[in-house]
Amino acid sequence: MIQFEGRAGILDLSWGHPRPDLLPVHEWAAASAHLDWRALTYGAAAGPDSLLESLGDPGRTFVTGGASHGLALVTQLLTNPGDVVLADAPTYHLAFPILRDRGVTLLQAPADTAAAVIRDIRASGRRVALLYLVPTFGNPTGRSLPEDQRRELIAVARQEGVTIVEDDTYRELNYDGPAPASLWELAGGAPVVRLGSFAKTVAPGLRLGWINAEPEIIGRLTRLGYVHSGGGVNHTTAVTMGTFRADGGYQRHVARVRSEYRAQRDVLVSALRADFATVESPAGGWFVWLRLPDGVTADALLPLAEERGVSFVPGTRFWADGPGGADRIRLSFSHLPADDLRRAAERLAAAVHRR
Ligand SMILES: Cc1ncc(COP(=O)(O)O)c(C=O)c1O
Repeated sequence: MIQFEGRAGILDLSWGHPRPDLLPVHEWAAASAHLDWRALTYGAAAGPDSLLESLGDPGRTFVTGGASHGLALVTQLLTNPGDVVLADAPTYHLAFPILRDRGVTLLQAPADTAAAVIRDIRASGRRVALLYLVPTFGNPTGRSLPEDQRRELIAVARQEGVTIVEDDTYRELNYDGPAPASLWELAGGAPVVRLGSFAKTVAPGLRLGWINAEPEIIGRLTRLGYVHSGGGVNHTTAVTMGTFRADGGYQRHVARVRSEYRAQRDVLVSALRADFATVESPAGGWFVWLRLPDGVTADALLPLAEERGVSFVPGTRFWADGPGGADRIRLSFSHLPADDLRRAAERLAAAVHRR
């Protein structure tokens, strides 16, 4: 698998990937069976009407090849090389190279202090072009930004001319009640651009997601040279997703994976709690953000853990430009079945306690 390498003997909690047997092979084939020639020709620039309408905001939606592609497009459109771009800290580490590809100056700004950072940078005479964050069931923490901080960020971004890029990839994987209102919903549109993805709810190989933005930005996306030349992004898959959603297959599938991932979360969290006192149970998403006991660092722990047959991502990876997370590790519970998660937690505890 690209982006994923299985290593013999290692229970790998580092990959934010779906459990392979939860990928809807037959359901997707059934949705594909109803296509006609329209699915196989060039598609409308913003995406097929069936999918745009099903996503609920047709004039303010542009279909993408996933959230990563959405972030690359938005960065291309809304920044110039050299601009200051802020990323939450900690946040999804693979967003950093996407932002850096554009040649921006990437600085970290934890979401709870980002409003102050934006004001400081502005006071020094520089403009902040974008702020990137995953405010709902975040990667790597599983946490969500409280509503008062969401509102404050929106107000400051509006005042200071900053676009907030809300990566909302995990919204539908909520385990303990409804997800909080998105920044996009709270703001009613600008200054927020929202990235959606079907990678976690359905399958990453589809390479399908969307951008929600004001019509002016959607218009600019539809006029990009490669859209003009090649038509709507990933058209056949987008049409198939329209069918999958219209016939209820999508909703049934998401309900099923939500319940499976909730059970996997519970297994990993309770197995970890036997050895680590303060494990937070994430209310959604795919990750447990574990604080290591005093004196244990993630980087020192990793080789010991791998010797015992378990792996994870050290917390330090999730800070764009400074120290942080040395005492934290990210554990994904999405990829492995319950028995493996229990064994992985035992091996991790053995590595931490040098048993
Ligand atoms: C926060 C976040 N954004 C984006 C992605 C990638 O999404 P996509 O596969 O839709 O490009 C991931 C996948 O790990 C993620 O965790």
